[in-house]
Amino acid sequence: MRRAAPLLALGLFIAGAAHAQTEVNVDPVSEDGVRWFNSDEIPTFKIAEDGTVDWPTFSGYRRYHAECHVCHGPDGEGSTYAPALKKSALNLDYYDFIAAVTGGKQAINAAQNQVMPAFGTNPNVMCYVDDIYTYLRARGVEALPRGRPAKRAEKSEAFAEAEKACMEG
Ligand code: HEC
Repeated sequence: MRRAAPLLALGLFIAGAAHAQTEVNVDPVSEDGVRWFNSDEIPTFKIAEDGTVDWPTFSGYRRYHAECHVCHGPDGEGSTYAPALKKSALNLDYYDFIAAVTGGKQAINAAQNQVMPAFGTNPNVMCYVDDIYTYLRARGVEALPRGRPAKRAEKSEAFAEAEKACMEG
Protein backbone atom coordinates (compact mmCIF):
# COMPACT_ATOMS: atom_id res chain seq x y z
CA MET A 1 0.00 0.00 0.00
CA ARG A 2 1.21 3.49 -0.76
CA ARG A 3 1.45 5.88 2.14
CA ALA A 4 -0.02 9.35 2.28
CA ALA A 5 2.32 12.04 1.00
CA PRO A 6 2.55 14.12 4.18
CA LEU A 7 3.06 17.41 2.34
CA LEU A 8 0.00 16.86 0.21
CA ALA A 9 -2.08 16.05 3.26
CA LEU A 10 -0.78 19.12 5.03
CA GLY A 11 -1.58 21.27 2.00
CA LEU A 12 -5.15 19.97 1.92
CA PHE A 13 -5.45 20.64 5.61
CA ILE A 14 -4.28 24.22 5.28
CA ALA A 15 -6.44 24.83 2.19
CA GLY A 16 -9.43 23.47 4.10
CA ALA A 17 -8.59 25.27 7.31
CA ALA A 18 -8.94 28.62 5.59
CA HIS A 19 -12.64 27.85 5.27
CA ALA A 20 -13.23 25.93 8.50
CA GLN A 21 -11.96 25.61 12.04
CA THR A 22 -8.20 25.25 12.23
CA GLU A 23 -8.36 22.42 14.76
CA VAL A 24 -10.17 20.01 12.43
CA ASN A 25 -8.01 16.92 12.13
CA VAL A 26 -8.57 15.47 8.65
CA ASP A 27 -4.98 14.53 7.84
CA PRO A 28 -4.81 10.83 6.77
CA VAL A 29 -1.95 9.14 8.65
CA SER A 30 -2.78 5.42 8.58
CA GLU A 31 -4.93 2.94 6.73
CA ASP A 32 -6.25 -0.55 7.39
CA GLY A 33 -6.79 -1.57 3.75
CA VAL A 34 -10.45 -0.54 3.98
CA ARG A 35 -10.09 3.19 4.74
CA TRP A 36 -7.83 5.99 6.03
CA PHE A 37 -7.64 7.30 9.59
CA ASN A 38 -6.38 10.50 11.20
CA SER A 39 -3.97 10.57 14.15
CA ASP A 40 -6.94 10.06 16.53
CA GLU A 41 -7.85 6.85 14.64
CA ILE A 42 -11.03 8.49 13.35
CA PRO A 43 -11.98 7.72 9.73
CA THR A 44 -10.86 10.37 7.26
CA PHE A 45 -10.60 10.95 3.51
CA LYS A 46 -7.61 10.91 1.21
CA ILE A 47 -7.60 12.88 -1.99
CA ALA A 48 -4.60 12.49 -4.29
CA GLU A 49 -2.85 15.38 -5.96
CA ASP A 50 -4.70 14.70 -9.23
CA GLY A 51 -8.03 14.85 -7.39
CA THR A 52 -8.60 11.09 -7.12
CA VAL A 53 -10.88 10.46 -4.15
CA ASP A 54 -10.43 7.34 -2.02
CA TRP A 55 -13.15 4.73 -2.56
CA PRO A 56 -14.82 4.98 0.89
CA THR A 57 -15.26 8.74 0.50
CA PHE A 58 -16.74 8.23 -2.98
CA SER A 59 -19.02 5.58 -1.49
CA GLY A 60 -20.04 8.16 1.12
CA TYR A 61 -20.94 10.60 -1.64
CA ARG A 62 -23.23 7.97 -3.18
CA ARG A 63 -24.81 6.83 0.09
CA TYR A 64 -25.35 10.37 1.30
CA HIS A 65 -27.25 11.18 -1.88
CA ALA A 66 -29.28 7.97 -1.62
CA GLU A 67 -30.23 8.22 2.07
CA CYS A 68 -29.70 11.70 3.48
CA HIS A 69 -29.95 14.42 0.85
CA VAL A 70 -33.75 14.31 0.63
CA CYS A 71 -33.77 16.12 4.01
CA HIS A 72 -30.25 17.51 4.39
CA GLY A 73 -29.93 18.91 0.86
CA PRO A 74 -27.45 18.00 -1.90
CA ASP A 75 -23.70 18.01 -1.12
CA GLY A 76 -24.26 18.30 2.64
CA GLU A 77 -25.34 21.92 2.19
CA GLY A 78 -28.44 21.71 4.42
CA SER A 79 -32.07 22.65 3.71
CA THR A 80 -34.83 24.63 5.35
CA TYR A 81 -35.79 21.38 7.10
CA ALA A 82 -32.51 19.85 8.27
CA PRO A 83 -29.00 21.12 9.14
CA ALA A 84 -25.97 21.30 6.83
CA LEU A 85 -24.19 18.04 7.61
CA LYS A 86 -20.92 19.26 6.09
CA LYS A 87 -20.83 21.55 9.13
CA SER A 88 -22.19 19.00 11.61
CA ALA A 89 -19.45 16.55 10.58
CA LEU A 90 -16.84 19.13 11.66
CA ASN A 91 -18.61 20.42 14.75
CA LEU A 92 -19.86 17.16 16.21
CA ASP A 93 -17.51 14.64 17.72
CA TYR A 94 -17.32 11.45 15.55
CA TYR A 95 -19.14 9.42 18.19
CA ASP A 96 -21.92 12.01 18.51
CA PHE A 97 -22.32 11.99 14.73
CA ILE A 98 -22.65 8.19 14.72
CA ALA A 99 -25.06 8.34 17.68
CA ALA A 100 -27.31 10.84 15.87
CA VAL A 101 -27.46 8.57 12.80
CA THR A 102 -28.01 5.42 14.85
CA GLY A 103 -30.57 6.73 17.32
CA GLY A 104 -32.09 9.70 15.53
CA LYS A 105 -32.88 13.09 16.98
CA GLN A 106 -35.92 15.23 17.52
CA ALA A 107 -35.99 19.00 17.95
CA ILE A 108 -38.21 19.49 20.98
CA ASN A 109 -39.71 22.91 20.84
CA ALA A 110 -43.19 24.18 20.08
CA ALA A 111 -42.27 26.00 16.89
CA GLN A 112 -40.57 23.07 15.19
CA ASN A 113 -41.45 19.52 14.36
CA GLN A 114 -38.24 18.25 12.82
CA VAL A 115 -37.36 14.61 13.10
CA MET A 116 -34.07 12.94 12.28
CA PRO A 117 -34.99 9.25 11.78
CA ALA A 118 -33.05 6.49 13.59
CA PHE A 119 -31.06 4.45 11.05
CA GLY A 120 -29.54 1.95 13.51
CA THR A 121 -31.24 -1.07 11.91
CA ASN A 122 -30.78 0.04 8.29
CA PRO A 123 -27.71 -1.68 6.78
CA ASN A 124 -27.82 0.62 3.72
CA VAL A 125 -26.89 3.40 6.10
CA MET A 126 -25.04 1.74 8.97
CA CYS A 127 -22.65 -0.27 6.73
CA TYR A 128 -21.63 3.03 5.10
CA VAL A 129 -21.82 5.48 7.99
CA ASP A 130 -18.02 5.96 8.14
CA ASP A 131 -18.03 6.58 4.38
CA ILE A 132 -20.78 9.19 4.76
CA TYR A 133 -18.86 10.79 7.63
CA THR A 134 -15.59 11.10 5.68
CA TYR A 135 -17.44 12.42 2.63
CA LEU A 136 -19.10 15.12 4.76
CA ARG A 137 -15.81 16.05 6.45
CA ALA A 138 -14.20 16.43 3.01
CA ARG A 139 -17.09 18.71 2.03
CA GLY A 140 -16.82 20.59 5.32
CA VAL A 141 -13.20 21.57 4.82
CA GLU A 142 -13.86 22.08 1.11
CA ALA A 143 -11.33 19.48 0.06
CA LEU A 144 -14.15 18.27 -2.20
CA PRO A 145 -16.20 20.63 -4.36
CA ARG A 146 -19.96 20.24 -4.73
CA GLY A 147 -21.19 17.50 -7.06
CA ARG A 148 -20.00 14.05 -8.02
CA PRO A 149 -16.25 13.54 -7.48
CA ALA A 150 -14.67 13.43 -10.94
CA LYS A 151 -12.04 10.78 -10.16
CA ARG A 152 -12.18 7.94 -7.67
CA ALA A 153 -9.96 5.07 -6.61
CA GLU A 154 -11.09 1.48 -7.23
CA LYS A 155 -12.90 -0.38 -4.47
CA SER A 156 -10.34 -2.49 -2.61
CA GLU A 157 -10.84 -6.19 -1.94
CA ALA A 158 -10.73 -5.47 1.81
CA PHE A 159 -13.49 -2.88 1.42
CA ALA A 160 -15.63 -5.32 -0.61
CA GLU A 161 -15.17 -8.02 2.04
CA ALA A 162 -16.03 -5.71 4.93
CA GLU A 163 -19.05 -4.44 3.01
CA LYS A 164 -20.30 -7.96 2.30
CA ALA A 165 -19.84 -9.05 5.92
CA CYS A 166 -21.73 -5.98 7.15
CA MET A 167 -24.59 -6.28 4.66
CA GLU A 168 -25.03 -9.94 5.52
CA GLY A 169 -25.19 -8.96 9.19
C1 HEC B 1 -36.56 12.49 7.07
C2 HEC B 1 -35.55 13.55 7.02
C3 HEC B 1 -34.13 13.16 7.36
C4 HEC B 1 -33.34 12.18 6.77
C5 HEC B 1 -33.70 11.24 5.64
C6 HEC B 1 -32.05 12.27 7.42
N1 HEC B 1 -32.04 13.24 8.37
FE1 HEC B 1 -30.54 13.73 9.62
N2 HEC B 1 -31.67 15.12 10.54
C7 HEC B 1 -32.95 15.46 10.14
C8 HEC B 1 -33.41 16.58 10.98
C9 HEC B 1 -34.75 17.29 10.87
C10 HEC B 1 -32.36 16.87 11.88
C11 HEC B 1 -32.35 17.92 12.99
C12 HEC B 1 -32.94 17.28 14.21
C13 HEC B 1 -32.77 18.08 15.46
O1 HEC B 1 -32.09 19.11 15.44
O2 HEC B 1 -33.29 17.66 16.49
C14 HEC B 1 -31.29 15.92 11.57
C15 HEC B 1 -30.10 15.87 12.27
C16 HEC B 1 -29.03 15.07 11.91
C17 HEC B 1 -27.76 15.06 12.60
C18 HEC B 1 -27.37 15.95 13.78
C19 HEC B 1 -26.84 17.23 13.21
C20 HEC B 1 -26.39 18.24 14.24
O3 HEC B 1 -25.66 19.17 13.82
O4 HEC B 1 -26.74 18.11 15.40
C21 HEC B 1 -26.96 14.17 11.95
C22 HEC B 1 -25.52 13.82 12.27
C23 HEC B 1 -27.75 13.62 10.86
N3 HEC B 1 -29.00 14.19 10.88
C24 HEC B 1 -27.25 12.71 9.97
C25 HEC B 1 -28.02 12.15 8.94
C26 HEC B 1 -27.50 11.21 7.98
C27 HEC B 1 -26.05 10.73 7.92
C28 HEC B 1 -28.53 10.86 7.17
C29 HEC B 1 -28.53 9.84 6.04
C30 HEC B 1 -28.07 8.52 6.41
C31 HEC B 1 -29.70 11.59 7.62
N4 HEC B 1 -29.34 12.39 8.67
C32 HEC B 1 -30.96 11.50 7.06
C33 HEC B 1 -33.70 14.89 9.15
C34 HEC B 1 -33.30 13.82 8.36
